[in-house]
Amino acid sequence: MARPAYEKPTLVRNTIGLMNKAGRRADLDEESSLDGIPVTKLCAEFGSPLFVFSERRLRAKIQEAKDALARRHPKATLCWSYKTNYLDAICAVHHQEGSLAEVVSGMEYEKARRLGVPGDRIVFNGPAKTRTELERAVQERAIVHADHMEEICLLERIAAERGERPTVGLRVSLDAGVHPRWDRFGFNLESGQALQAARRIARGGRLNLGGLHTHIGTFITEPAAYGRSAATLAAFAGAVEKDTGARPTHLDLGGGYASTNTLGSQYHSGALAPTFAEYAEAIGSALVDAGDGTTPLLPLLVEAGRTLVDDCGTLLATVLSVKRLGDGRRAIVIDAGVNLLFTAWWYRLNVVPARNTGGFIEETVVYGPLCMNIDCIRESVALPDLKPGDRLSISPVGAYCVTQSMQFIHLRPACVMIDPRGRAHVIRRAEVLEDLTGPERLPEYLRLEGMREPGAVRRPAETGPARRD
Ligand SMILES: Cc1ncc(COP(=O)(O)O)c(C=O)c1O
Repeated sequence: MARPAYEKPTLVRNTIGLMNKAGRRADLDEESSLDGIPVTKLCAEFGSPLFVFSERRLRAKIQEAKDALARRHPKATLCWSYKTNYLDAICAVHHQEGSLAEVVSGMEYEKARRLGVPGDRIVFNGPAKTRTELERAVQERAIVHADHMEEICLLERIAAERGERPTVGLRVSLDAGVHPRWDRFGFNLESGQALQAARRIARGGRLNLGGLHTHIGTFITEPAAYGRSAATLAAFAGAVEKDTGARPTHLDLGGGYASTNTLGSQYHSGALAPTFAEYAEAIGSALVDAGDGTTPLLPLLVEAGRTLVDDCGTLLATVLSVKRLGDGRRAIVIDAGVNLLFTAWWYRLNVVPARNTGGFIEETVVYGPLCMNIDCIRESVALPDLKPGDRLSISPVGAYCVTQSMQFIHLRPACVMIDPRGRAHVIRRAEVLEDLTGPERLPEYLRLEGMREPGAVRRPAETGPARRD
């Protein structure tokens, strides 16, 4: 009888909670469909990888935030932070639900305008606005928040040239007890710079004072921090009015509201993040407490990004290979990596198979397709047996993934949105090589006309010395 071939044994670490004497862990999720459409059907129709957005979930999130704000403030408006996800379809849903556009560059501003958002429904933040962009914003009556004194001076010159008196607000950096403290955006409150800037606008004779905006940090899971920033900004608005006689037009708080993603460093699941109602409650009560009970509250703008859209996006991907690493760990290579999931570097994204393969559940490393060691989506995630061709869903990826994705080694895949009636619409087609090469220009002298056909095989006789045998 032939002896079976020797197979090198593999030591697999036994992870508490995965297998036990009662058998396989039962609570492993699988995601076989998205908003009623089977994952296999989506991938067959639109390819893999594939970004899939749920319009139903997005509208529900926006509605929840709007309702929460309305309960806490008589005049609160959501502003959709474009950089979080500026796919036209996503922005259009926000605007249909009544949100303003919050943009931080001329490109984002133009995108909002092309979508049909009027200038006076655009909040223009950002630390690097150019003269041309500011001229346009002034002409179209956008809600401008100045980031630094050069911008105020530039706006004064534009105002003089146009013979107008535009309204200009301020970005204010303040201490809301958040660590690390964000200090780079706007004018520092505690050092007096913010008051100086407000005086310059209000008394300079060329501008009207607009609103006061503050952005205290990112992924802030403590609603009380927004309460503190709201109270501080409201007190500052009162101080500005007293000092200059000019009443700021509004207060603007955001972004930084957490999504349900799980930070890499976090113990508990991101699903325990505060609800939008908790943020709204902290802000609303702080503003009421800061008021004198008779003067109407200043209108409130709330700039939100990830908290509204993160949960609405899933990336479908396909297993390309399954391998065993030298240290015994199981690894899979999938067709989507950090080229599409920039946020994988700081979130523990959920990676879930589309079907229950039933096999042994094991801690698995999930690598993307890039020829780069840093292309790792999860260092360790419990997954069942998988085979090449199996589909996975990765979530939440609705925020900052599409906008920060890159054409690096691979072109970007299609994005679809599933409407509330369960129909999938392509909202960004898969890229083709011309999307990458279109802007390229090859100088005449570098043309390779003389080269032989690609793929032609060079014969040894043409390439090397004649053989002697
Ligand atoms: C000025 C401004 N507003 C809003 C946001 C949205 O932030 P988030 O996605 O954390 O809500 C950002 C993002 O950095 C921002 O810079």
